[in-house]
Amino acid sequence: MKRTKIFADANLVIGKVDPNLYGSFVEHLGRAVYEGIYEPGHPTADENGFRGDVASLVKELNVPIVRYPGGNFLSGYNWRDGIGPRENRPTRLDLAWFSTETNEFGTDEFMKWCHLTGIEPMMGVNMGTGSIKDAAELVEYCNHAGGTTISNLRRANGAEEPYNVRYWCIGNEMDGAWQIGHLTAEEYGRKALEAAKVMRWANGELKEESGRNWAKSPLKLIVSGSSTHEMKTFPEWDRVVLEQTYKQVDYLSMHRYYMYDEDREDPLEDFLGSADDMNEYIGTLKATIEYVRAKVRSQKRVKISFDEWNIWSVTAPRREPLWKRAPHLLEDVYTFRDMLVFAGLMNTLLNNCDTVTIGCLAQLVNVIAPIMTKKGGEAIRQTIFYPFKLLSNAARGETVRTFSDSARFSNMYGYARFINEAVNHDREKRTVCVSLCNYGQSESEVELELRSFGTLKATEYVEMKDTDLDAANTFTTPDRIVPRRRDLPRVKDGSRVILRLPAMSWSFVKFTY
Ligand code: AHR
Repeated sequence: MKRTKIFADANLVIGKVDPNLYGSFVEHLGRAVYEGIYEPGHPTADENGFRGDVASLVKELNVPIVRYPGGNFLSGYNWRDGIGPRENRPTRLDLAWFSTETNEFGTDEFMKWCHLTGIEPMMGVNMGTGSIKDAAELVEYCNHAGGTTISNLRRANGAEEPYNVRYWCIGNEMDGAWQIGHLTAEEYGRKALEAAKVMRWANGELKEESGRNWAKSPLKLIVSGSSTHEMKTFPEWDRVVLEQTYKQVDYLSMHRYYMYDEDREDPLEDFLGSADDMNEYIGTLKATIEYVRAKVRSQKRVKISFDEWNIWSVTAPRREPLWKRAPHLLEDVYTFRDMLVFAGLMNTLLNNCDTVTIGCLAQLVNVIAPIMTKKGGEAIRQTIFYPFKLLSNAARGETVRTFSDSARFSNMYGYARFINEAVNHDREKRTVCVSLCNYGQSESEVELELRSFGTLKATEYVEMKDTDLDAANTFTTPDRIVPRRRDLPRVKDGSRVILRLPAMSWSFVKFTY
């Protein structure tokens, strides 16, 4: 058996892990909102109709920030439809998902749900059918204390104090022909720049030339990057949009879903290559940002908001009738195989934490999500729930650079490593945790050399393995795939550990010093 050597040193830090790397996303799509986070009449629902079982699973995931209300839905959404007395709210056709939107749930309900779950809201403004005026007025509705018609509306709707929403996405996937109001890079860049300006002004941020910023809390603005690196316009879209908006924005957004496709020549290898491919994609965007930064002569470093990422394999034709309220859409049941790739994607995000400082797992409930609910019934944890939960609770602090001699396999993207890892160091808690995927078809021995952390002692060792790659958690077998504890490994000289990773497995080891 070949032994893979992985070396990490506490002094070789990639960057601090921003807690927002563990964010998620709730869109008005399918049953994400209705029957997901919100279901009045459900046995666990509170007086606002928020499902208690879902809220407690969300807390288990330790999600700090949630993006809302879309996604593709955003580009046709008028935020005014979702506020005020429910009986006056209009019912609309949602042209993004061919559903009926009743608007029972809107901005104020989302803010209440965020308050309940301790989550920071990340709002989106419509750049499809929406104007820059709509965008600025939504900022005013959320963040202006009162005394104007729009901010007084919020107060009349029950929120005396402003919400002070800090994170704002300027549109969604405007590069895609599927988007309502799709734009060219030049058109979008220009509109996004103007939207950003007036949104900041509505937030009380004074014009650049004044040299002062009076807002208590400046907005953190996210401009839409390419929807995937498979777009013909990638990465030119990102360059053009960033060149126009660089001075006004803080983040460039990235989206990417990976799929298992049996029709490919090497479906498994191609799927297992996702984590390394995601790394390449991030690398190209980092370079694009640096290029634009140099070109516009800016000191500021725009970060990446990877605000949609996940596995999304089910592309089956829609079974639900058109224009249904809360249809069953995009309800992927995640397999063990999906979990393996998912864990690798998380490793990639952690290894790029110097630039990727927001990550939104898309999505949170029912729609391509770690949590699945039954109307009036239970909520279960999908396979992907577990790596997210373990890492979001433990992989904090800093990501440390690793050096590995892992063998590689070829796939549609090029080459990928059999052993894929991330090492995190939390100086405050004096912990080090290691996340390891073995994408090989046989057991593999890994020698970890974790230098300069202190004398390490293992405190937790769990793994996820299964011989059936298609196994999944369902309402009848909700605990089919769960992490299992292993005996703690011995740490030689306080820094060297030898682990035997089962074929096709994910392992998580935590140390203290
Ligand atoms: O998350 C599902 C959809 O995927 C989002 O609405 C869209 O932004 C992306 O294409």
